[in-house]
This record gives sequence, structure tokens and C-alpha cells, in this order.
Amino acid sequence: MGTSEQRRIVVAVTGGIAAYKIPELVRGLGRAGHRVRCALTPEAAHFVSPLVLQTLSGEPVRSQLLDPGEEGSIGHIDLADWAELVVVAPATANVLARMCHGIADDLVTTLLLATRAPVLVAPAMNVNMWNHPATRDNVAALRERGVRMVGPETGELACGWEGEGRMAEPAAILEAAERCLRAPSLRGRGVLVTAGGTVEPIDSVRSLTNRSSGKMGFAVAAEAALRGASVTLVAGPSHLPTPAGVRRIDVETALEMRDAVLRELPDASVVVKAAAVADFRPRVVHERKLKKEDLAPDQGLTLELVRNPDILEEISRDRGDRVVVGFAAETHDVVEAARRKLARKGCDLLVANDVSRGDAGFDVDENAVTFVWPGGEVEELPLLSKAQVAGQLWDRIEKRLLGGRE
Ligand code: CTP
Repeated sequence: MGTSEQRRIVVAVTGGIAAYKIPELVRGLGRAGHRVRCALTPEAAHFVSPLVLQTLSGEPVRSQLLDPGEEGSIGHIDLADWAELVVVAPATANVLARMCHGIADDLVTTLLLATRAPVLVAPAMNVNMWNHPATRDNVAALRERGVRMVGPETGELACGWEGEGRMAEPAAILEAAERCLRAPSLRGRGVLVTAGGTVEPIDSVRSLTNRSSGKMGFAVAAEAALRGASVTLVAGPSHLPTPAGVRRIDVETALEMRDAVLRELPDASVVVKAAAVADFRPRVVHERKLKKEDLAPDQGLTLELVRNPDILEEISRDRGDRVVVGFAAETHDVVEAARRKLARKGCDLLVANDVSRGDAGFDVDENAVTFVWPGGEVEELPLLSKAQVAGQLWDRIEKRLLGGRE
């Protein structure tokens, strides 16, 4: 640490117990060479001493919006303009709601409304508050606007509950802040990501699909956009919000996904295929609902399925300079199966995940992946949030696959 370029960071502290960890964050940011100014909500001062923050940051700490003394040294708009990054940590459910609705009723929320700097929030709250539909909606809206999130993590909460809601550790917030400040490393690159499961109709009301939620692919697209890429996301049916700055094309079937991918391919120098494409589709799609009364009482129904094209294999074949990354959903012998899949599909990297685990893979927020490289090298990552997995993936694509390529 201490090697990064000096940047101006406002740490906005709101009233949660995790505020006691903020001195460590402020010290870490200072050690990394940055200038830090702290702004507190009136409640935050119950959980962390302004004097400690002032001493560690070496800058005046502000908590009042309209205190003549404080405004005299740095006006709240000056503070908003001074910031190159605002880190809200801990961010309570209340501040997320006020941010979402543009309410500016104290120094922190006024600063957040006025600043043009990127904003990183580290939510911390009771698990039920975090899971409440109001908070879910607020978080989704903020993400869509480009607000970055770090955490929350799952674990024991100060309120006595277990679950998601713990503030990310100061080291993780520091790392996320550095990432926000980094030059957009994928600027000028076209990136194509596929996500979610495809849906293959049987008749006008029934279909075949799988349990993919699209979360992993959406996280990959979001991270590429944060790094400045021009991102197109081809998504199977999903209720997830479109990540900020991402162009989204919704598709249903594997054939539609293939068409969209082939159409968008010329603009992409990197393709990440995180979608769970259905391998088969019914040979015949009945226009009207299949009725039981058309069958004998004890007669079963046999569906004839035909193979869908393998999009990944097809685009890997003639990829030229284009980087192509695949995912592999496996339930057993994960690494061996992924190695065979990589050889068969011929892509540059395969991200294998064990979808039989309850805590990772389909429809949860975490994933435990293994990077399988063509040379036989295997890198196993611990259980991480899907956003962190996306970060690790892009770090590798940039370093190992794009290094030197225009
Ligand atoms: N894939 C694809 N087109 C298909 C099937 C899969 O592009 N018709 C891509 C997926 O997007 C993913 C990779 O291939 O990047 C592996 O998908 P997965 O479902 O794990 O493997 P399959 O090829 O379907 O093989 P199997 O179901 O036998 O494990």
C-alpha cells in the first residue's frame, strides 16, 4: 500500500453499529496515499467518535448541514465537489432509501445528491431490513443508477440475527474503493455477455427450462461496464434489473440467443457465455395447449427433443483475436468434466461451477468457481459473491487474455 496515486475521498458515515470499524477504513485509505474527509449523520456520532476520525484523517470532520462554524471551513457543496469518490459506510437501510428518493435532509444525503463523483456504498443492517422488498427495490434502483455496492456479507449480526447484513470488512471496502478509482481498463472494448437460462416452448403455455437465475452473467456484465467496456447483455427471461450502462437484449429460446449473439458478435472483442443454454428443444411446438382429453386415460406423453446448436462451440471455432470465455455447470467430477468441456468447445477459459452445492451456483448470490485453462492449469476460488467472482474473472481476462491485444 501507499503506492497508489493520491485521490480525494469523502467517507460518509451513517448510524449503524458497524461505524466502529470506520477508523480502520480511514486509516487504510490514508495509508494507501489518499486524502480523506469524513462526513457523519447526526446518528453516526453515537457509534464512532468524530475526534478519532478527525485525528486519523488529519482533516476536519463534519456532521451538521447548516452549522455556521463548519460551513465556514468547507461548505457542503464544496465537499461534494472536492470528492473524487464518496464511500458511504456503513450505509443503513434509511440512507439507502433517502438516496434512492433524492431526499437531502442532512449533510450526508445532501452531499450525496450534490456530488458528481462515483458513489460506493457498504450496506449494513438487520437481515430482515436488507431482505425487505422496500430495501431490495431501493438497492436495485441505486445499482441501476450506477451506485456501486460492496457487501453486505453473511454472518452473525449485532442485532442477534444471523444472515446477510454485515458490513463488508474495511479491507474489502478499501479494495472496492481502489477499484472505483482505477482508470477504466476496458474502455473502448466491446464486450458481449450471455446470461440466464433459455426457455424452450412445448406448446402455447408450457416450456422446458432450467434453474439459472442469470445473476452470474449479470454480475459479469456489470463489472465489465464498471471497467468502461461497451457491454451488450443477451439475457434469457430474468427479473433482474439491467446493470448500469449495459445494453440488454432479451431472448427466450436457444435459437433466439444464437441469433442475437451472432448479430452482436462483430462488435465484441470479448465474449463471456454465462448463459445456461437448453441443450434440447421440443421438435414440434404445438400452437395450442396440449389437452389430456386428446389422450387415452392411461396414455403418457412422449416429447421428441432435438439438439440446440452449441453457441459457444460455434463462436469459439472462428474466433480469431476475439477472446471467448465459457462457463460450465457441473454436478459431479467438476474439474474433469470442465476440462473435457473446454477441449470440446475450444474457448480461451472455462469457469466451472458446482451447481449441486446449496450455497453456490444457481439462483444464490454466491458462487464457488474454478478457472480451468487450456494448458491444464486449474485455479480454485473460495466461495465469493457473484460480483467478486466477476471481478476475479475480468482481472484474469485483462491480464492473461487481453494483455497486449488491442
Ligand atoms: N452453451 C452454448 N450453447 C449450448 C449449450 C451450452 O453456448 N447449446 C455454453 C454455455 O453458455 C456455457 C457452456 O456452453 O458457456 C457450457 O454449458 P453447460 O450447460 O455447462 O454445458 P453443455 O455444453 O450444455 O454440456 P452438458 O449439459 O452435457 O454438461
